[in-house]
Amino acid sequence: MLKGAKDNKTIFVCQGCGYQSAKWMGKCPECGEWASLLEERQHLTVASGTGISSRGSEPIPIVAVEKSEQQRVNTGIGEFDRVLGGGLVPGSLILVGGDPGIGKSTLMLQVLHRLADGKQKVLYISGEESLGQIKLRSDRLGMGSQNLWVVSEVSLQAIRALADDMAPKAMVVDSIQTVFTSELTSAPGSVSQVREATMHFMHLAKRTGVPIFLIGHVTKDGAIAGPRLLEHMVDTVLYFEGEQNNIFRILRAVKNRFGSTNEIGVFEMRDNGLHEVMNPSAIFLSQRPSAVPGSVVTASIEGSRPLLLELQALVGRAGFGTPRRTVLGVDPNRVSLLVAVMEKKLGFQLMNQDIFVNVTGGVRVDEPAVDLGIVSAIASSFLDKPAVEATVVIGEVGLTGEVRGISQAEARVREARKMGFTRCILPESNLKHIQGTGDIEMVGLQTISRLVDLLF
Ligand code: TYD
Ligand code: MG
Repeated sequence: MLKGAKDNKTIFVCQGCGYQSAKWMGKCPECGEWASLLEERQHLTVASGTGISSRGSEPIPIVAVEKSEQQRVNTGIGEFDRVLGGGLVPGSLILVGGDPGIGKSTLMLQVLHRLADGKQKVLYISGEESLGQIKLRSDRLGMGSQNLWVVSEVSLQAIRALADDMAPKAMVVDSIQTVFTSELTSAPGSVSQVREATMHFMHLAKRTGVPIFLIGHVTKDGAIAGPRLLEHMVDTVLYFEGEQNNIFRILRAVKNRFGSTNEIGVFEMRDNGLHEVMNPSAIFLSQRPSAVPGSVVTASIEGSRPLLLELQALVGRAGFGTPRRTVLGVDPNRVSLLVAVMEKKLGFQLMNQDIFVNVTGGVRVDEPAVDLGIVSAIASSFLDKPAVEATVVIGEVGLTGEVRGISQAEARVREARKMGFTRCILPESNLKHIQGTGDIEMVGLQTISRLVDLLF
């Protein structure tokens, strides 16, 4: 009797943040959400789910540990492989997150199609769409393979049995929010269901060596039972981002146990699926208007490669009240700081101006090397003068108006030259370290005071 009571112990779990409590509360003390605590049966899975033996292991010297050779599998989609750190690691659990409708299912179906080219089967498990819908998408992508198997299934137990029977080469679960186990009473998509399912998939991947992709939706309002909750449980977290109404999609690794997290993959969504963008600079600059005020090109480093981007600014007299500052693609605080520096050091009267800043193509950059580009774009719009043609502007700007050195300046200058730019304005301190970039004129700056003379 007593034992039974212990086994059936229930706890209250916040569906928003996963906070656990022994008693019910109206408000979650962790995230402040009201009425978000639901009763759930406590389920101890740690010992069985993680593959860590409870017998205890003997420590050994690190030099005696045998290196496990990771044979990476190439998916054949270069952009995807690079983000993974050079291919797919067997037995890894990869979470692919992103807003609904961004193209996660499309991307994963394409990856599986490529992987299915070999002899082994691959398995696509969908809890969101019927087989007919998947077939429609697959036809749209113009792909068909004998080895791509699909199933519509949401039960965790059934999925595990399937994986054991088929022993696929790779597996996609679309989406983790639809998977549920009958061992828990809470609804599919709830924090505990999603966590439980993820733990089982981790175990499955490690036990069988099959790489498993979990698709997860990020919900706009704080990601209820969303991928963020699972980030620490999986090996790799990829986010697929982009604007709904923009054709470009960026795949970014935010966590990677098998590679760098700096890499991005750029894709273009066409009516027959996602296509790799081999030369992102060309694409991002392709629609750049020539000789208009407020548009400046800068070079950012994304992962291991430079990327030329167009920064746009629109500065106009504010009506009344507080002027508007709307910033997309770069840090708004950074822009406020740069505007303050421009007022003080360049004497621009910006406090009564509305300022809008945007990075075109839906790209997001968070490195300070684009500071000088932002300053240039704002100055260009404010003065209503286009910047000198074929010029790229790079450099970090400090609070005293100094232009500070940046990393990988040479790679950025090379990319600019490759894309046909003839002049580069960059930090003076970087100038002496750059060699062999050919026929591109380089102008070094110590402070922003000369910027206006150089640009217009
Ligand atoms: P989808 O992969 O279903 O998104 P997610 O799984 O992230 O919710 O893709 C949805 C969008 O992509 C949809 O609006 C239609 C568009 N799309 C294309 O533009 N071209 C295509 O070839 C496909 C398959 C989808
Ligand atoms: Mg989908």
